[in-house]
Amino acid sequence: MTTPMNILMSGALLAGPLAGFLQCESVEVDGEPNVVLDDVADDVEAFAAADEPAEVPLELLFDDEVPPGRSFGLQELSLKQLGKFVFFDKISSPKNKQGCVSCHDPAAGWTFGVDAINKSQVAAPGAVPGAVGSIKPPSNAYARNMPLQLQCPPFLLPCGGVFWDGRAEGNVVPLVAGASPHVGLEVFKSSANLEGLFAQFLGPVADQALQPFPNPVEQNIGEKEVCNHVAKAPYSLLYKLAWGEKIDCSNAGFLLSFKRIAVALAAFQSSSEVNSFSSKRDIALAAEIKKEGADVAFPLQGLTAQENLGHELFYGKAGCALCHSNTPVFVIEDPNKAGLDPGELYTDAAYHNIGVPRNAKIPGPLGSPGLGARSALPAQLGFHKTPSLRNVDKRPSKSFVKAYTHNGWFKSLEALVHFYNTADVSSDGATAAKFGITRCDPSKPDWTQAEALAANCWPAPEEQGTLAIGFLIGDLDLTVAEEAAIVAYLKTLSDTKTVKPPKLLK
Ligand code: HEC
Ligand code: HEC
Repeated sequence: MTTPMNILMSGALLAGPLAGFLQCESVEVDGEPNVVLDDVADDVEAFAAADEPAEVPLELLFDDEVPPGRSFGLQELSLKQLGKFVFFDKISSPKNKQGCVSCHDPAAGWTFGVDAINKSQVAAPGAVPGAVGSIKPPSNAYARNMPLQLQCPPFLLPCGGVFWDGRAEGNVVPLVAGASPHVGLEVFKSSANLEGLFAQFLGPVADQALQPFPNPVEQNIGEKEVCNHVAKAPYSLLYKLAWGEKIDCSNAGFLLSFKRIAVALAAFQSSSEVNSFSSKRDIALAAEIKKEGADVAFPLQGLTAQENLGHELFYGKAGCALCHSNTPVFVIEDPNKAGLDPGELYTDAAYHNIGVPRNAKIPGPLGSPGLGARSALPAQLGFHKTPSLRNVDKRPSKSFVKAYTHNGWFKSLEALVHFYNTADVSSDGATAAKFGITRCDPSKPDWTQAEALAANCWPAPEEQGTLAIGFLIGDLDLTVAEEAAIVAYLKTLSDTKTVKPPKLLK
């Protein structure tokens, strides 16, 4: 059970009533642990007597739900809520054209929400007419916030960071060339209180949030303009509640304020609102853990026989969990005793080349060399970050088409799982041989997924030579029914909760 925040805030305006509200020790929520607000009361009480009159009732600023089992300080809540407003606000040049949400639609599993584009050019258009990106927007939910490191076990490959090539590293000193700028401790201006509360949000996701605003093929707006926009926005009070001072957009101050907005975006994207762990798989597993405690194992009662089989194959024969699990292991003795972590993120946070064919429909120069382009290591060409599979099937309607992998060449989970099963069309590929699959005619450079399926062939990979194919991928000996079971399992990973825009922006 969760409780709408507006019950807590109901009727409170900044002046007077907020001071009274803050004197509450804590608020009882349906027998759930208390929502503790008093630890920051002193800081915030100062604002009750602040200069500006409240224009917006607090219940409109805090329109969301407080998750159970956690204490939320008002500063942390304000930071997260500021990030939510900025995420959904269309802060761009030209005005009001594009926000984070334009490319990361919660109803489409936080990826691109226009299926006409997923079916065609894949890359998202920017705020400026005619501007367009060059790669598929990945989900920004469940983006694991750990810095890019080299030599993560078990394969001693680079891991962490966000972006398909990990360039939002979250490191103070870049580990690999071409890392994007870092948001560091400077945002706390030596305040131990702020650092203690908010340092948890520094990292790759905060670094990433500096990028989309000034990017000419995205929101196309300067840092100072972003600062001014937030200063004038009806939710600007949240900045002050979070950071303890009014937003400073002077020439000397705007860059720091902009970085603090990035930290707010990271706080929202780290919240349990965005990472709700509310999928059918999560619900079925939680029920079983409640019943069985430490003896929990698959099959789960809350999943169908086909979905349970899919789990078994995912963690066993098909080897998906080698890359799509936080705890990748080489040999899984009993797949029904694997994948039991309620916090499973379905990614090793590492980089691999699975052999995705070129997508000729993406405008501009073809191909994405991934991590290899930054590291200048030929052995890492075509390496892209393993995406989390949470919400991989989440879509606004049944007929809505999503695009999969970094260049969106794949348009269905069925086709992608068939590819994992049969991509090895060399003479070693027994599964491909069983299905009669061959290499598509290389003289045609622009094979689409539909054409390849119709011709029963796979085009050559975008990057040859660094493939995981043949070892982990491409010859899995799965039957048609087993492929379908894996797809059915992937479909259990869609969150049942969908984040809605804050009321004030609707
Ligand atoms: C025009 C479309 C567009 C807009 C607007 C946009 N993004 Fe993205 N986002 C992308 C694309 C494309 C990528 C992948 C880029 C790459 O890897 O080179 C991405 C990557 C990300 C990632 C990394 C996810 C991962 O796991 O690697 C996060 C987090 C993210 N965006 C958050 C945001 C936030 C926050 C905003 C608003 C400040 C935003 N995006 C605005 C298209 C967009
Ligand atoms: C060697 C590591 C590895 C293995 C094994 C692996 N994957 Fe992946 N998976 C990746 C990487 C890396 C990507 C992104 C590739 C790209 O975009 O070029 C990916 C992409 C995907 C996507 C697309 C997600 C999206 O948001 O676009 C799905 C779905 C998927 N994998 C499912 C599976 C399934 C099911 C299996 C088992 C049959 C599997 N994977 C096995 C590494 C792996």
